[in-house]
Amino acid sequence: MAKTQTKAGGAAKALLATAVALLAATAADARSACEYVPIHRILASAGGVYNLADGRQLKARKVSVGGCSTMPALPTGLAYPDTNSNYTVMSHESDACITGTGRDGSTPTYAGFQAIVIESNGFKFSADLVLEDIDAQPVDDPTQGWRETMSSLAMADGAVVRPTMTTKPGSLVAVQPFRVPRASLQEVGFPSSDDLLISGAAYSSWTETKNCPFMNDPTGQCKAFVSYPDPVDRLLIIYAITQKSANDPNAAAFFSEVTLACGCQCAEKPGASQMTVPVEGSAGTCKKVPSKSPAYNCDFMGKFWCETAETTRWEMTGSRSACASVPSTIQVPVSSYTPTSQFGKLPEP
Ligand SMILES: *[C@@H]1O[C@H](CO)[C@@H](O)[C@H](O)[C@H]1NC(C)=O
Repeated sequence: MAKTQTKAGGAAKALLATAVALLAATAADARSACEYVPIHRILASAGGVYNLADGRQLKARKVSVGGCSTMPALPTGLAYPDTNSNYTVMSHESDACITGTGRDGSTPTYAGFQAIVIESNGFKFSADLVLEDIDAQPVDDPTQGWRETMSSLAMADGAVVRPTMTTKPGSLVAVQPFRVPRASLQEVGFPSSDDLLISGAAYSSWTETKNCPFMNDPTGQCKAFVSYPDPVDRLLIIYAITQKSANDPNAAAFFSEVTLACGCQCAEKPGASQMTVPVEGSAGTCKKVPSKSPAYNCDFMGKFWCETAETTRWEMTGSRSACASVPSTIQVPVSSYTPTSQFGKLPEP
């Protein structure tokens, strides 16, 4: 994990913590998504390293964990239906991919699964993605067909980060707990001293067995929505089945492009800055005070990565201390930015 991530210095870190806290308090909901990448494009790029338009680099790899193999005709990582698509396939073709359904009260376990791991080169990113086509083999007896499950987990500086994972009302998919054994986490480069309990999205209806049509699921019956509002530097996507089929050894699901907030490499603005604040008890008037937190500018030499956030600020309107609130765009540091030239050249964990 630490191989691609250089630690920021103590002072820079403290500063960053303050700035990130500020972001959480003021602008977390204002982040705007402007970069996105279909993961098949990262997997297909030279050396597995992909350059985003803003200069940041991501890499991705596929892992067959615990002997869970993929379907040769529709392998994990493939663009579907073609390379212009945002969708990336995940598929299985082996009994090693079965987690159990949990219907008997036990906790289903992602011991064997198909995995895609995405890593960033020296920065953290907030991310959103959609897990799609999590469905079931259309058979009369729901206990006799394959049933799919997908999940996601992330890390930031070596610590596990759990996403929010939601489904639409009326969905055939439910979010439920799954165990992930320590040894399986090890295989995907998620070091953990214990097994983890994580949330997974699994086909949940025992009355209906629906093979959702891919890209024609407008009500989201077979989808799960994954969001990491707090920045991460390693992202894992999991695919498995909860139950074996009596007669069909393979199945496939898909996940969408990963969207990243937009931003720039940035640095603290030099010099002490001032801010305009309203005068208490005197509506429509402001005063200038020294700014409590530093402001940041896009700067290609900067040591931070900033996300662009919409906010409002107070501005003097000219006459005496009169002021008004105006919309404003600010750069908010969300992580250090310390890319390494060795990215993509290091052996995988
Ligand atoms: C892929 O996703 C992006 C961002 O969500 C969207 O703007 C674009 O239209 C999508 N492309 C296709 C081919 O669906």
